[in-house]
Amino acid sequence: MAKKGRVFSGARPTGRQHLGNYLGAIKNYVAMQDEYDCVYCIVDVHALTTVETTQDLKLNTFEMALDWLAAGIRPEESILFVQSHVPEVMELHTYLSMVTQFGKLTDLPTFKEKVRQQPENVNYGLVGYPVLMTADIVLYKTDVVPVGIDQAPHIEFAREIVRSFNYRYNTKVLIEPQVKHTEVLKVVGIDGKDKMGKSLNNHIELALTPDETTKRVREMVTDPARQRKTDPGNPDVCNVFTMHKIMSPQEEVDMINVECRRAGIGCVDCKLRFAANLNKNLEPFRAKRAELASQESYVQDVLNDGARRARTIAQQTMKEVREAMQLP
Ligand code: TRP
Repeated sequence: MAKKGRVFSGARPTGRQHLGNYLGAIKNYVAMQDEYDCVYCIVDVHALTTVETTQDLKLNTFEMALDWLAAGIRPEESILFVQSHVPEVMELHTYLSMVTQFGKLTDLPTFKEKVRQQPENVNYGLVGYPVLMTADIVLYKTDVVPVGIDQAPHIEFAREIVRSFNYRYNTKVLIEPQVKHTEVLKVVGIDGKDKMGKSLNNHIELALTPDETTKRVREMVTDPARQRKTDPGNPDVCNVFTMHKIMSPQEEVDMINVECRRAGIGCVDCKLRFAANLNKNLEPFRAKRAELASQESYVQDVLNDGARRARTIAQQTMKEVREAMQLP
């Protein structure tokens, strides 16, 4: 079947993936494979803008790749690779940097946010982060980029850089990517408050055992106004209920929606039901993960093969780019 075009997306190597990663990104990456040629990249170079040491980088890359594969990324069809394995991206980044206005980079909200987060490490790479991201995207002649809402300005910026490049060199070699929003809902962590994330330790890892998962789910914060089991609760403000809506059968969701409001079901019972449904949903993922992990060097082979295929595309693009630029 002919595909609709090429998709590219990247994520930093954050190690074992959690429910927020799955619902916010991976699930969509998996689904897009049916319609598009997909290129998925673990952006280890971008990670260097914020990490102080590289000692966890290999393991985090490996664990993330393993989770993605177990979740349904199909490496025979799609390209899964590590950013630094295709060094052409660094060259393209340099050329693109010459058509990018510095002031625009430092004006970006994402950059300002990073300056607030790490004032002692405002490195040059951090400023150029969106330029490297643009290089990632255009190196593979990408049509569509699925990203979360926070990254949308970066894609808009990438389109601008592409226009500047094509205008300056009077060419059409680079393609302006379209953005596709992936975050349909914000996945809130077990604190019931902030977006689920590893840094806040409010996450539920996909690779936990069923028992560990249940334990984690039991820590979830429910409707804060509901003190006792005998108090009626409000599912509309309860994160556990939100998760039920994603994970549980409709009859169960309907039942909880009624019973919680009249104190017919308590929070512990509600959470245990969610844990059971979550564990059931994760069963195939866990089986696949265990199987892949038991095949020695499987993940490494996938990443090597992905890099080889990615590089073939990248080298062709760079040839066209250098020609367009009339480099000697
Ligand atoms: N900047 C993205 C993030 O922080 C990661 C990323 C790097 C990316 N290159 C990309 C995303 C290209 C989409 C396309 O999440």
